Amino acid sequence: MSKMIECLHQYTMETEEVIRKYLPPVEGFQKTVLDAMDYSVNAGGKRLRPLLMRECYRLFGGKSEEVEPFMAAIEMIHTSSLIHDDLPCMDNDTLRRGKPTAWVKYGYDMAVLAGDGLMIYAFETAAKAFSMGADPEKVGRSIGILAEKTGIYGMIGGQTVDVELAGKPIPREKLDFIYRLKTGALLEASLMIGAVLAGASEQEIQTVEEIASLVGLAFQIQDDILDVTGDPEVLGKPALSDEKNHKTTYVTLEGLEKAGKDVKEISEIAVSLLRSLDRNNQFLEELIIMLTDRKN
Ligand code: IPE
Ligand code: IPE
Ligand code: MG
Ligand code: MG
Ligand code: MG
Repeated sequence: MSKMIECLHQYTMETEEVIRKYLPPVEGFQKTVLDAMDYSVNAGGKRLRPLLMRECYRLFGGKSEEVEPFMAAIEMIHTSSLIHDDLPCMDNDTLRRGKPTAWVKYGYDMAVLAGDGLMIYAFETAAKAFSMGADPEKVGRSIGILAEKTGIYGMIGGQTVDVELAGKPIPREKLDFIYRLKTGALLEASLMIGAVLAGASEQEIQTVEEIASLVGLAFQIQDDILDVTGDPEVLGKPALSDEKNHKTTYVTLEGLEKAGKDVKEISEIAVSLLRSLDRNNQFLEELIIMLTDRKN
């Protein structure tokens, strides 16, 4: 396991470098929005989505740099979703990635624009893969996946129902819908794009989507658990945000104990699906299991 942690550290640093390479320079008359974008991305974060994307790309034999603009793009979209998620009109939180949230530091107006800016710059960035010798068909399809999983049939769709139902009871099936979209969709995009760019088969792409959906569900349940049990110093964001917003979560519906059990169970199903692909990636397997014990 310690080799795994070393490996994770190394991969995270490499991912950081890729993200930094694709961030726009903070200059020009629109400097304020660029500064807010830069601040939010560079505040930190686990970089899980780009890391998973590259691992999946490697799983299917990908070896070139064409995946890099997509790695940066998915982290930009994820960060934009966090900036908007923290706004006073949404979860109204003041701490993110250990720092004041974008709206606290730059104002409500600039935070909205920084979220928009990052979301669309992600596509400008992903399109750079066209001029990197990548197969245009695969790049085009990947951009389509990125858009679908971000938009109304993905993260934004999930956030819509999440926000709309704050303070209201939510039946389990609707909660599953919210989690599959608000959190699962960007993880699905991460793994699927890695697979598509590396030339995986349709069947493999579909399996990878299922794996990511399970990882996303477990990830959001663990996020709900940490919202109740976590330490804000370690989390880098406030605890008890869900309670403050009267959110129905997996924990309020099922209780802490069952939630914890389900995180493990769902992750084990994801690992067995990963094994069914018959490609060796020990690191990915261990990472999925490690996420079930994460503290931030
Ligand atoms: C937080 O995502 C939002 C959820 C989808 C639960 P992460 O836990 O991946 O946040 P960072 O990127 O590490 O800050
Ligand atoms: C966020 O869910 C999902 C997103 C798409 C941003 P949460 O609202 O629980 O995420 P945190 O706890 O603020 O990171
Ligand atoms: Mg939220
Ligand atoms: Mg939130
Ligand atoms: Mg949360």
